[in-house]
Amino acid sequence: MSDLAIDEFEVDVTDDDVAFFHANGYLSIERITTDEEVDQLRGVFDELFAPSSSSYFDVMRPAGADGAPIFPQTIMPELRHPELRDTTYVRNARRIAARLLDLDESETTHWGHMLDKPPRYGHEAPWHQDEAYWDPTLSYHAVGAWMPLDDADVDNGCMWFVPGSHLGPLLPHQHLGGDPTIHGLELIDPVDTSTAVAVPLRAGGASFHHPRTLHFSRPNTTDRRRRAYANEFQSPPVPRQG
Ligand code: NI
Repeated sequence: MSDLAIDEFEVDVTDDDVAFFHANGYLSIERITTDEEVDQLRGVFDELFAPSSSSYFDVMRPAGADGAPIFPQTIMPELRHPELRDTTYVRNARRIAARLLDLDESETTHWGHMLDKPPRYGHEAPWHQDEAYWDPTLSYHAVGAWMPLDDADVDNGCMWFVPGSHLGPLLPHQHLGGDPTIHGLELIDPVDTSTAVAVPLRAGGASFHHPRTLHFSRPNTTDRRRRAYANEFQSPPVPRQG
């Protein structure tokens, strides 16, 4: 991806969108970048997730497990591909994230991760809050952006959110099945997810969610891939008080 499109594709959100986010803990928008850039990003994604690549790991199985990964992920792909820091997607996502966080864009930093759900055997992402993955001694002011690189629906693993769940506390999580060699987390106690909302998106659309918003995605039961490129935007975390 040496030659990123320099274009004027700008996306912003309305005051109503910001109010919706604060009330519900998530927001989706139909379009955050161009088809051309989605295509370029698929190229980067496929390079990072090639079988011979060492830049991904399996989130949902023990470290070093044999066989094809069921939920491969790469963290901070921008370290290998610095041009990812200045894509139309990231520029638009930063603008929107800054509004949702009530920060100036210059006050935000970001880091990315890419997640694959292979056809037919892509694992579910169990219900969780992203903050559970982070340092418990720090306090965060952050929002996650999530962009599918393939059309995402309930059957190949679009995101589901529990509206308003970001207003509650950080809930106890454990590594999947209590196995500390598995990176992926799940809630320890069952929660009521009966009000959960599925958010299907076309490739190049995006959703935003608060780090305490409960979210999940189903296994991929289709013949289609579900590649996604997420970015976390935040102000520098500070030591947690009390
Ligand atoms: Ni998550």
